[in-house]
Amino acid sequence: MRKKIVAGNWKCNTTLAEGIALAKQVSNLVAEKGAKDVVVVLGTPFTHLASVATAVDLSRVSVSAQNCAAEAKGAFTGEVSVSMIQSTGATYVILGHSERREYYHETSETLNKKVALTLAQGLTPIYCCGEALAIREAGTENAFVKKQLEETVFNLSAEDFGKIVIAYEPIWAIGTGRTASSQQAQDMLSFIRQLIAKKYNQNIAAECSILYGGSCSPANAQELFSQPDIDGGLIGGASLKADDFLAIINAY
Ligand code: 13P
Repeated sequence: MRKKIVAGNWKCNTTLAEGIALAKQVSNLVAEKGAKDVVVVLGTPFTHLASVATAVDLSRVSVSAQNCAAEAKGAFTGEVSVSMIQSTGATYVILGHSERREYYHETSETLNKKVALTLAQGLTPIYCCGEALAIREAGTENAFVKKQLEETVFNLSAEDFGKIVIAYEPIWAIGTGRTASSQQAQDMLSFIRQLIAKKYNQNIAAECSILYGGSCSPANAQELFSQPDIDGGLIGGASLKADDFLAIINAY
């Protein structure tokens, strides 16, 4: 079902104690002052998942991993499986973030396995896509994002596709303070929704939550979220400050 979602991606930040404190602060603020119809998600490091899931009110705040193993279990030293993630109380997994694609060479083939395992375990993938600056400057961002989707989540059945969340994050806007304009974000999210309608059907497209990510802040969230195809945000830096994160949640 199409929902408004504001998801924090803490990336590789916070010690366990800092993470628990931040999660408690967010949970309390959301309980006191948070918009009731917004799904709030905290994407924490693996090491924090279980503690954060215990620290927050899970009826108001959901917990997400930022990655998962591409295999269900076995001899894969250092990997964290989807069932391990699920056992912590987390219900979302961020997949295909551009930082993982770039620094850890995550391919469409690997992502397909991760998406399938996440769905099989009943967790919700937040599937990230988005182009680099050179692609935007060449004007080929639509073709690039289309290919990312075609190589991965467009392989899903209609039923499974209906369970995922998409996050469009232009790489040039991540951590740069250079956010996409609300029009640029709206144009891409509308394009993605049209692709979904063509691949599946209008109903699935209308029901899919599509988020924008990239230098989203209390200053620009309202303008971004007022666009018809933007169903929320995937928030990096601003999710590390509870007050800023709450302001973004309440930007609707
Ligand atoms: P920033 O909000 O720090 O630009 O990060 C966006 C992001 O990558 C969220 O996944």
